[in-house]
Amino acid sequence: MSLRGATICGVGSYLPEQVLTNADWERMVDTTDEWILSHTGIRERRLAAPDQACSDLAIPAAQRALEDASVDPQQIGLVIVTTVSPDHFFPATACLVQSAIGATNAGAMDLTSGCTGFIYAMVTGANFIRAGAYDYVLVIASEVLTRTANWADRTTCVLFGDGAGATVLGPCEPDEGLLSFALSSHGEYGDLLIMPGGASRMRATAEGIARHQDCLQMEGHDIFKLAVRGIPRIARDALAKAGLKTGDISAVVMHQANQRILDASADRLGIERDRVISTVGKYGNSSAASVPLCLDDVYRSGGLEPGDIVLLVGFGAGFTLGAAVLRWTLPRFPAE
Ligand code: UT7
Repeated sequence: MSLRGATICGVGSYLPEQVLTNADWERMVDTTDEWILSHTGIRERRLAAPDQACSDLAIPAAQRALEDASVDPQQIGLVIVTTVSPDHFFPATACLVQSAIGATNAGAMDLTSGCTGFIYAMVTGANFIRAGAYDYVLVIASEVLTRTANWADRTTCVLFGDGAGATVLGPCEPDEGLLSFALSSHGEYGDLLIMPGGASRMRATAEGIARHQDCLQMEGHDIFKLAVRGIPRIARDALAKAGLKTGDISAVVMHQANQRILDASADRLGIERDRVISTVGKYGNSSAASVPLCLDDVYRSGGLEPGDIVLLVGFGAGFTLGAAVLRWTLPRFPAE
């Protein structure tokens, strides 16, 4: 069976203007710049304006990716939005984006897999293209995570930031673009990173909201251990499926939760730390959005060339892990 390939043919992102620094958090909770920086590597993060919801970040990110790909919205067959902070439970945020950008020929759906969401969504979109169902799929990860955080809980609130990243996926030669992927789920650890209330298990009540049940809760230390153990395993699994070794990797674009996780993963994979791209210092942890935000950052700074092997890795609520190996096809930015 000869399937065509699927590749990233356009990248874009959007970040809200307001910057929230560690000094700002020092004024709001019992924390210090020194603690945040030494434990996470985060210096600042972005904060959505009060009138900005998930789709308001997703739309400009999508438009920038479409412009970068030189693809018309009407050529898009499917819009996938991945998020844990949607505008509403329903309609899907993807439908709001589809309408706003004029993707009048597209289907639309949301896909949730915590901070691993972009890997799951990109693999899903790519396989629609490989199967010949659609030529172009728009995959957007958008988060307003500061709105799901408990701003009185110093163990979580200082970590998160808002933003959106988008990619246009299109057809390519079978040996380019997405070469392989590996996905895993470990639902037995679901309680370690959870928003317990506000859904069918626990309805939103005044009492529940007063107890922050509608906010994100995380056992950070346990998630940290799952991440540093799981990342090398899922990365090696995806690389083996592509017949590649860690030495073949040009750049690793990983979920940006903590600089210590990026460094530990590099060490355990035997990759130089500077090949693991870091944007955690300036954007914090933006859940599903962090991988495409980081990808856009390295791409637009001229850090990727055609033929580069790029390893994408995600981990997060579920507990889920995902890795994807790409042979990069876009010209170095700005295009020569
Ligand atoms: O994005 C989805 C996946 N999420 C992650 O990957 C997050 C993974 N986890 C982490 O990144 C880290 O575990 C954290 C950054 C969340 C926490 O770092 P840690 O080194 O694991 O710290 P800890 O939770 O073990 O806490 C150490 C101490 C505690 O005090 P005691 O009990 O030792 O007295 C905390 O109360 O640090 C205290 N602490 C703080 N102190 C100042 C926790 N948060 C803060 C804070 N400011 N913001």
